[in-house]
Amino acid sequence: MADIVQLENVRKYFPGVKALDGVSMTIRSGEVHALIGENGAGKSTLVKILTGIHDPTSGTILVDGEPASFRTPHDSQAAGITAIHQEASMFPNLTITENIFMGHHLRNRFGLLDWKTMEARTRELCERLSLAISPDTLVRDLSVAQRHQIEIIKALSIDARVIIMDEPTASLSLKEIQELYELVRTLREQGTAIVFISHKFEEIFEVADTYTVLRDGKYVGNGSVSDVTTDDLVRKMAGAALDRLFPERTPSIGEVALSVQGLTQAGVFEDVSFELRNGEILGFFGLIGAGRSELMQSIFGVRSRDAGSVTVAGERLDPLNPRKSMAQGLAFVPEDRQEQGVILDMSIIENTTLSSLRAVSRFGFPQKHTERSVTEGLAKRFSLRAARLEQRVAALSGGNQQKVVLSKWLATQPRILILDEPTRGIDVATKAAVHSFVGELADQGYAIILVSSELHEVLGMSDRILVMREGRLVAGFDSEDASAERVLATAIGAAAVEQGA
Ligand SMILES: Nc1ncnc2c1ncn2[C@@H]1O[C@H](COP(=O)(O)OP(=O)(O)OP(=O)(O)O)[C@@H](O)[C@H]1O
Ligand SMILES: [Mg+2]
Repeated sequence: MADIVQLENVRKYFPGVKALDGVSMTIRSGEVHALIGENGAGKSTLVKILTGIHDPTSGTILVDGEPASFRTPHDSQAAGITAIHQEASMFPNLTITENIFMGHHLRNRFGLLDWKTMEARTRELCERLSLAISPDTLVRDLSVAQRHQIEIIKALSIDARVIIMDEPTASLSLKEIQELYELVRTLREQGTAIVFISHKFEEIFEVADTYTVLRDGKYVGNGSVSDVTTDDLVRKMAGAALDRLFPERTPSIGEVALSVQGLTQAGVFEDVSFELRNGEILGFFGLIGAGRSELMQSIFGVRSRDAGSVTVAGERLDPLNPRKSMAQGLAFVPEDRQEQGVILDMSIIENTTLSSLRAVSRFGFPQKHTERSVTEGLAKRFSLRAARLEQRVAALSGGNQQKVVLSKWLATQPRILILDEPTRGIDVATKAAVHSFVGELADQGYAIILVSSELHEVLGMSDRILVMREGRLVAGFDSEDASAERVLATAIGAAAVEQGA
């Protein structure tokens, strides 16, 4: 396997932060290379250097053994390197072919745009990867997973030899994830080099051949995935072993805190009824698209409903009135941090105290030192990696932005907490911190709903688990009777094991 790209002793300093501090890595053709490390370790920064978005402070990049310098994304594309980002950057109202050839249209010998050839080429690439999508489909009609596939095709259309995927499976369903793995394997067989960034170990062991670990911007080690265990990798990433993933609790379940009756939004979720008690962690499991997030949005009041009621402490919550929900002690940590979670242009302190300004203000004026101490406490709790608390959230790594979202809602000191995928994109060590915090909150009497697509998380954390499928509650399990097989089977809809909710 030929070396395509070699990084030698690469550094990238931002004011106050050594995002990369002497990293070396070799990317070879026909190899899937996992890039792993905790939140803020420098993974995305390394990708940005490889794709010409950031200039390294120092260090060498060799392509095919020759020194290279990527001043713009165009330079690195010309060298055959491209990245597929988490938020797809395509034009929804254009077709697949139009998107793929955007910026490098093919022309015929008269200099006119040659759509026929471009379409044929798109079809050929789809076939090469065994994808059954028609090239004239509008991108807005594609699922998130299909958009990812098109991004991969786009990469191939410019003859990419290195394709970098930054947490590609975060918003894909189980089936779509399997399809992505297939695609990655096909690309590998065809000689493409893949750099794969993920916080999920199952996935690293499933697809990757080699790994490189970063810690605090420093290169810690590399090797063959077949020579290591999950524990080895965790130890390399965190610098220490992790004793246990989920907190031990002896739950004491109290009064009903939240009651949902017959909640319906036509075509999205149907006749959902359940009760949540003080001191309880109620897990909601289901496949992506089962309607869990939409249900939670409606309960909190940021999505409408057609029928049903939500009651907190004897008081009915109005539809579409999140203010009233918050006044009743409800907090909602949404799954999409970029859209609903944080304001990227504001500082960590501003974001953290945004929703709780009343709690930290006296006579209506926010108190600077209180804001700071509230934020400091939460930042410490979640080992937030930031140069200063006054820093803009936009400059934080993906996982650290997620921690700010969590802090912001916990700062409102809610009684009922709805967490939608709270640990997505968060590294293992911090995951454990979030879990133990959630466990403590429940022990203090908070009522908690935990929506997660990670089965282990739901099983490890919940006192009770409700399973949703196609907009309906299809089963309920006490934590003692919940096994991975049974919960997953009901979520997928495998018959026989179903129980009444
Ligand atoms: N534009 C920037 N300005 C200042 N600091 C930055 C900037 N971009 C990244 N950083 C800092 O560099 C460090 C590395 O961030 P990076 O995004 O590479 O982490 P990551 O490994 O991708 O983490 P995650 O798993 O959370 O996505 C972090 O401390 C981050 O705050
Ligand atoms: Mg990142």
